[in-house]
Amino acid sequence: MRAFRIRTTKGLAIKIRNFGVPDIRRVVEIEENSSLDGDAGLYLEVYEEWQEGFLVAEREKEGKEKEEVIGFIVLVLTPEGEGRVFAIAVDSRYRGKGVGRALLKAGFSVLRKRKIGFVELEVRVSNVVAQRLYSSLGFLEVGFVPLYYKDGESAIFMRKVL
Ligand SMILES: CC(C)(COP(=O)(O)OP(=O)(O)OC[C@H]1O[C@@H](n2cnc3c(N)ncnc32)[C@H](O)[C@@H]1OP(=O)(O)O)[C@@H](O)C(=O)NCCC(=O)NCCS
Repeated sequence: MRAFRIRTTKGLAIKIRNFGVPDIRRVVEIEENSSLDGDAGLYLEVYEEWQEGFLVAEREKEGKEKEEVIGFIVLVLTPEGEGRVFAIAVDSRYRGKGVGRALLKAGFSVLRKRKIGFVELEVRVSNVVAQRLYSSLGFLEVGFVPLYYKDGESAIFMRKVL
Protein backbone atom coordinates (compact mmCIF):
# COMPACT_ATOMS: atom_id res chain seq x y z
CA MET A 1 0.00 0.00 0.00
CA ARG A 2 1.14 3.48 -0.73
CA ALA A 3 1.39 5.57 2.47
CA PHE A 4 -1.29 8.24 2.78
CA ARG A 5 -2.16 11.09 5.10
CA ILE A 6 -5.71 11.64 6.30
CA ARG A 7 -7.69 13.45 8.89
CA THR A 8 -9.82 10.91 10.80
CA THR A 9 -13.60 11.34 11.18
CA LYS A 10 -12.73 12.91 14.58
CA GLY A 11 -10.23 15.38 13.09
CA LEU A 12 -6.89 13.78 14.04
CA ALA A 13 -4.16 14.10 11.37
CA ILE A 14 -2.53 10.71 10.83
CA LYS A 15 -0.48 8.87 8.27
CA ILE A 16 -1.28 5.25 7.39
CA ARG A 17 1.58 3.19 5.98
CA ASN A 18 2.92 -0.35 5.85
CA PHE A 19 4.51 -1.76 8.99
CA GLY A 20 8.31 -2.01 9.01
CA VAL A 21 10.33 -4.20 11.39
CA PRO A 22 11.60 -1.19 13.45
CA ASP A 23 7.94 -0.47 14.36
CA ILE A 24 7.72 -3.71 16.36
CA ARG A 25 8.68 -2.02 19.64
CA ARG A 26 5.73 0.40 19.46
CA VAL A 27 3.35 -2.32 18.26
CA VAL A 28 4.21 -4.48 21.28
CA GLU A 29 3.86 -1.50 23.65
CA ILE A 30 0.41 -0.72 22.27
CA GLU A 31 -0.71 -4.32 22.34
CA GLU A 32 0.49 -4.81 25.93
CA ASN A 33 -2.02 -2.13 26.98
CA SER A 34 -4.80 -3.67 24.92
CA SER A 35 -5.37 -7.16 26.41
CA LEU A 36 -4.49 -8.89 23.15
CA ASP A 37 -2.81 -12.31 23.16
CA GLY A 38 0.13 -11.65 20.79
CA ASP A 39 3.87 -11.07 21.23
CA ALA A 40 6.72 -9.70 19.09
CA GLY A 41 7.71 -13.11 17.70
CA LEU A 42 4.18 -13.91 16.62
CA TYR A 43 3.67 -10.51 14.95
CA LEU A 44 6.93 -10.79 13.03
CA GLU A 45 6.02 -14.29 11.90
CA VAL A 46 2.65 -13.11 10.63
CA TYR A 47 4.35 -10.16 8.92
CA GLU A 48 6.70 -12.52 7.09
CA GLU A 49 3.67 -14.48 5.84
CA TRP A 50 1.95 -11.47 4.25
CA GLN A 51 3.65 -8.08 4.59
CA GLU A 52 0.92 -6.10 2.77
CA GLY A 53 -1.60 -6.89 5.50
CA PHE A 54 0.27 -5.17 8.35
CA LEU A 55 -0.45 -1.44 8.54
CA VAL A 56 0.36 1.22 11.13
CA ALA A 57 -1.10 4.64 11.88
CA GLU A 58 1.38 7.35 12.72
CA ARG A 59 0.66 10.64 14.38
CA GLU A 60 2.28 13.65 12.80
CA LYS A 61 4.09 15.53 15.54
CA GLU A 62 4.66 19.26 15.72
CA GLY A 63 8.03 20.86 14.91
CA LYS A 64 11.04 18.68 15.64
CA GLU A 65 9.16 15.96 17.50
CA LYS A 66 9.40 12.52 15.89
CA GLU A 67 6.40 10.86 14.29
CA GLU A 68 5.01 8.16 16.51
CA VAL A 69 3.10 4.94 15.77
CA ILE A 70 -0.24 5.15 17.59
CA GLY A 71 -2.10 2.15 16.18
CA PHE A 72 -1.86 -0.89 13.95
CA ILE A 73 -3.90 -3.51 12.13
CA VAL A 74 -2.75 -6.97 11.12
CA LEU A 75 -4.69 -8.74 8.39
CA VAL A 76 -4.04 -12.29 7.30
CA LEU A 77 -5.37 -14.46 4.49
CA THR A 78 -7.28 -17.59 5.49
CA PRO A 79 -6.80 -20.95 3.73
CA GLU A 80 -10.24 -20.31 2.15
CA GLY A 81 -8.87 -17.13 0.57
CA GLU A 82 -10.72 -14.70 2.81
CA GLY A 83 -9.33 -11.83 4.84
CA ARG A 84 -9.11 -11.97 8.59
CA VAL A 85 -8.39 -9.25 11.15
CA PHE A 86 -5.67 -10.95 13.18
CA ALA A 87 -5.21 -7.93 15.49
CA ILE A 88 -6.06 -4.25 15.74
CA ALA A 89 -5.19 -1.83 18.53
CA VAL A 90 -4.84 1.87 19.14
CA ASP A 91 -2.65 3.50 21.81
CA SER A 92 -4.99 4.14 24.76
CA ARG A 93 -4.16 7.89 24.66
CA TYR A 94 -5.59 8.11 21.14
CA ARG A 95 -8.69 5.90 21.31
CA GLY A 96 -12.07 7.28 20.29
CA LYS A 97 -10.47 9.61 17.72
CA GLY A 98 -11.26 7.61 14.60
CA VAL A 99 -7.88 5.87 14.26
CA GLY A 100 -9.31 2.33 14.53
CA ARG A 101 -11.96 3.13 11.93
CA ALA A 102 -9.33 4.57 9.55
CA LEU A 103 -7.06 1.50 9.96
CA LEU A 104 -9.95 -0.88 9.23
CA LYS A 105 -10.95 1.05 6.10
CA ALA A 106 -7.35 1.05 4.87
CA GLY A 107 -7.24 -2.71 5.54
CA PHE A 108 -10.43 -3.25 3.53
CA SER A 109 -8.91 -1.51 0.54
CA VAL A 110 -5.79 -3.70 0.72
CA LEU A 111 -8.06 -6.77 0.67
CA ARG A 112 -10.26 -5.43 -2.13
CA LYS A 113 -7.20 -4.81 -4.31
CA ARG A 114 -6.54 -8.53 -3.95
CA LYS A 115 -10.16 -9.23 -5.02
CA ILE A 116 -10.96 -10.74 -1.64
CA GLY A 117 -14.71 -10.92 -1.01
CA PHE A 118 -15.04 -11.31 2.76
CA VAL A 119 -13.28 -10.32 5.95
CA GLU A 120 -13.82 -12.01 9.32
CA LEU A 121 -12.72 -11.54 12.92
CA GLU A 122 -13.23 -12.64 16.49
CA VAL A 123 -13.92 -10.17 19.28
CA ARG A 124 -14.22 -10.65 23.04
CA VAL A 125 -17.84 -10.76 24.26
CA SER A 126 -16.93 -8.01 26.74
CA ASN A 127 -15.40 -5.71 24.08
CA VAL A 128 -18.48 -3.68 23.31
CA VAL A 129 -16.46 -0.73 21.94
CA ALA A 130 -14.84 -2.87 19.25
CA GLN A 131 -18.13 -4.66 18.47
CA ARG A 132 -19.84 -1.31 17.92
CA LEU A 133 -17.05 -0.17 15.61
CA TYR A 134 -17.19 -3.40 13.57
CA SER A 135 -21.01 -3.29 13.28
CA SER A 136 -20.89 0.31 12.10
CA LEU A 137 -18.51 -0.80 9.33
CA GLY A 138 -20.84 -3.57 8.14
CA PHE A 139 -19.64 -6.61 10.11
CA LEU A 140 -22.44 -9.01 11.10
CA GLU A 141 -22.37 -11.40 14.06
CA VAL A 142 -22.28 -14.88 12.57
CA GLY A 143 -21.09 -17.09 15.40
CA PHE A 144 -19.96 -17.58 18.97
CA VAL A 145 -16.74 -19.35 19.99
CA PRO A 146 -16.78 -20.49 23.64
CA LEU A 147 -13.49 -20.18 25.60
CA TYR A 148 -11.68 -18.71 22.57
CA TYR A 149 -9.15 -16.59 24.48
CA LYS A 150 -6.28 -17.78 26.71
CA ASP A 151 -8.02 -16.37 29.79
CA GLY A 152 -11.19 -18.37 29.05
CA GLU A 153 -13.31 -15.54 27.62
CA SER A 154 -15.56 -16.41 24.68
CA ALA A 155 -15.54 -14.70 21.30
CA ILE A 156 -18.15 -13.38 18.90
CA PHE A 157 -17.32 -14.26 15.31
CA MET A 158 -18.10 -11.48 12.81
CA ARG A 159 -17.98 -11.31 9.04
CA LYS A 160 -18.27 -8.57 6.44
CA VAL A 161 -18.76 -8.53 2.68
CA LEU A 162 -16.08 -6.34 1.11
C1 LIG B 1 -11.08 -1.26 19.40
C2 LIG B 1 -10.11 -0.11 19.02
C3 LIG B 1 -9.06 -0.65 18.07
C4 LIG B 1 -10.95 0.98 18.33
O1 LIG B 1 -10.06 2.00 17.92
P1 LIG B 1 -10.42 3.54 18.16
O2 LIG B 1 -9.45 4.34 17.39
O3 LIG B 1 -10.57 3.80 19.62
O4 LIG B 1 -11.87 3.60 17.50
P2 LIG B 1 -12.51 4.83 16.71
O5 LIG B 1 -12.17 6.10 17.38
O6 LIG B 1 -12.22 4.64 15.29
O7 LIG B 1 -14.03 4.58 17.06
C5 LIG B 1 -14.89 4.01 16.19
C6 LIG B 1 -16.16 3.59 16.92
O8 LIG B 1 -15.89 2.79 18.06
C7 LIG B 1 -16.83 3.11 19.08
N1 LIG B 1 -16.13 3.70 20.20
C8 LIG B 1 -14.88 4.21 20.23
N2 LIG B 1 -14.56 4.61 21.47
C9 LIG B 1 -15.62 4.34 22.24
C10 LIG B 1 -15.90 4.49 23.63
N3 LIG B 1 -15.02 5.02 24.47
N4 LIG B 1 -17.09 4.06 24.07
C11 LIG B 1 -18.01 3.53 23.24
N5 LIG B 1 -17.80 3.36 21.91
C12 LIG B 1 -16.63 3.76 21.44
C13 LIG B 1 -17.78 4.07 18.51
O9 LIG B 1 -18.85 3.33 17.94
C14 LIG B 1 -16.98 4.73 17.43
O10 LIG B 1 -17.84 5.18 16.45
P3 LIG B 1 -17.95 6.74 16.07
O11 LIG B 1 -16.69 7.01 15.28
O12 LIG B 1 -19.16 6.78 15.23
O13 LIG B 1 -18.02 7.49 17.36
C15 LIG B 1 -9.44 0.49 20.28
O14 LIG B 1 -10.43 0.88 21.20
C16 LIG B 1 -8.47 -0.45 20.98
O15 LIG B 1 -7.28 -0.46 20.69
N6 LIG B 1 -8.94 -1.26 21.93
C17 LIG B 1 -8.08 -2.21 22.60
C18 LIG B 1 -7.68 -3.37 21.70
C19 LIG B 1 -8.88 -4.07 21.13
O16 LIG B 1 -9.89 -4.22 21.79
N7 LIG B 1 -8.75 -4.51 19.88
C20 LIG B 1 -9.81 -5.21 19.20
C21 LIG B 1 -9.67 -6.65 19.43
S1 LIG B 1 -10.90 -7.55 18.51
